[in-house]
Amino acid sequence: MTEYVLADTAAPSRTHAIKLYGPDGFEGMRRAGRLAAEVLDALVPHVKVGVSTDEIDRIAYEHIVRAGGLPACLGYRGYTKTTCISINHVICHGIPSERTFKDGDIANIDVTVILDGWHGDTSRMYLLGDVGVKAKKLVDTTYECLMLGIEQAKPGNRLGDISHAIQTHAERQRYSVVRDFCGHGVGRVFHDAPDVVHAGKAGTGPELKPGMFFTIEPMINIGRPDAKILDDGWTAVTRDRSLSAQFEHSVGITEDGCEIFTKSLAGLDRPPYA
Ligand code: MF3
Ligand code: CO
Ligand code: CO
Repeated sequence: MTEYVLADTAAPSRTHAIKLYGPDGFEGMRRAGRLAAEVLDALVPHVKVGVSTDEIDRIAYEHIVRAGGLPACLGYRGYTKTTCISINHVICHGIPSERTFKDGDIANIDVTVILDGWHGDTSRMYLLGDVGVKAKKLVDTTYECLMLGIEQAKPGNRLGDISHAIQTHAERQRYSVVRDFCGHGVGRVFHDAPDVVHAGKAGTGPELKPGMFFTIEPMINIGRPDAKILDDGWTAVTRDRSLSAQFEHSVGITEDGCEIFTKSLAGLDRPPYA
């Protein structure tokens, strides 16, 4: 049985129960989500062949701090960067480094900001130079998966309706859905209940209620779904080295649907950005 708790009365930490937030929560998440989206917007002109992922991470850090926010990932479980930058067969949690972008790369950049205690968590794919048609199609389909999942995010539906919409669309293209990582409750806590899995049965799982805040962040592979973690303890790659893509939004369930907190006000939610 799923438990729900009014967020104002809950411990400000990860709980088993699902927190339900009120108008102050929506306002806080709107501001944090907007800042996170602005960071990804601001990176667009910098994500170019020859630029290092460390340089992108530095720009994201500066942007967040200048806006009065904090990078949520910095120091999180020992992570030492602001962003995760996951290129080609890296599924997620790629660590920024001296590696430079190469022609034909596809890269996910994931940023989470804390603004006045609220977490805005979002990621997008960026295309470097001349990207092949197969990679482009993976990126397009992954974005569609996210948005089809978001369409199911409304009161009365269940979490499994989101999972099912994503899985169905991915598998229709004979792609696979990564099972080792999932979306999560978000708000005053970075990673909270519930787990938002990206493959599952319609009509199952917790019922969606107004005031629930969570991320949807499907990771979709061209090949098999299996992941492995590299020796750095973070970088997750596809075992078969096939390409992987991901997009992420933070959303809040409203009376009649959901609000996307991390939408780009500049219209840069998906490539091409030019
Ligand atoms: N932003 C990631 C997510 O979507 C989490 C990254 S945790 C880090 O949940 F420590 F790797 F940065
Ligand atoms: Co997330
Ligand atoms: Co994220």
